[in-house]
Amino acid sequence: MENQDISENTAKIAEAKESKLELADNVGGKANKLRLALFASGRGSNVAAILKAHKEERLAGLTPVLLFSDKDCPALDHARNYPLAYKTLYPKDFATREAHEEAIVDLLRQYEVDVIALAGYMRLLGKPLLDAFGGRILNIHPSLLPEFPGTKSIERAYTRGVPFTGVTVHLVDEGMDTGPILRQERVDIPEGMTLADLETAIHQVEHQLYPSVLVAFAKSRREKQ
Ligand code: GRF
Repeated sequence: MENQDISENTAKIAEAKESKLELADNVGGKANKLRLALFASGRGSNVAAILKAHKEERLAGLTPVLLFSDKDCPALDHARNYPLAYKTLYPKDFATREAHEEAIVDLLRQYEVDVIALAGYMRLLGKPLLDAFGGRILNIHPSLLPEFPGTKSIERAYTRGVPFTGVTVHLVDEGMDTGPILRQERVDIPEGMTLADLETAIHQVEHQLYPSVLVAFAKSRREKQ
């Protein structure tokens, strides 16, 4: 349970940091920020990009409060280093998928999360999470959906020989990369481009696009409140 201890500490640091930011915001007369949870299962370059945007005050209207993962993965290092509270709940520790998700929902409620950004989170979401947070869960996907949903989307686009692919940020529903699209950006595949070059180009676009869509999403939600 070492993870939990570290997590408690980072939570305190994150809270202290956050209250300073919110204080600064309130001085300016702005409404409170929405509390953002990041979900990741892998490398975490999008987590890093979102935290960098926050550090550089480019994540207007949002405060990251938690990184959640379903496994031990490199993404957690970005939370440890930021610092941001993080927590792992392993599916194998729960009797059913629903029980796992119910525990995640409890965790999100503890952190008073408003918005969730999936960033390389490799599980389909089920009823408990969608009932609790439907319409407030975003995902980033490395293709121009509905083209190339699922895994290995960059590689499949490259192998198919299409002249362009891209990046999509969308709301999450119960399907695989099927929810309403919020924004898309095209990435060209010129003659002679290698797969590695394409992967780099896609990730560069992702790292700019995701923070900016999150900011726009937060703005539109706060305007509706
Ligand atoms: C990204 O390409 C994202 O679009 C997809 O999973 C990948 C995650 O990469 N959903 P990283 O873990 O953020 O580096």
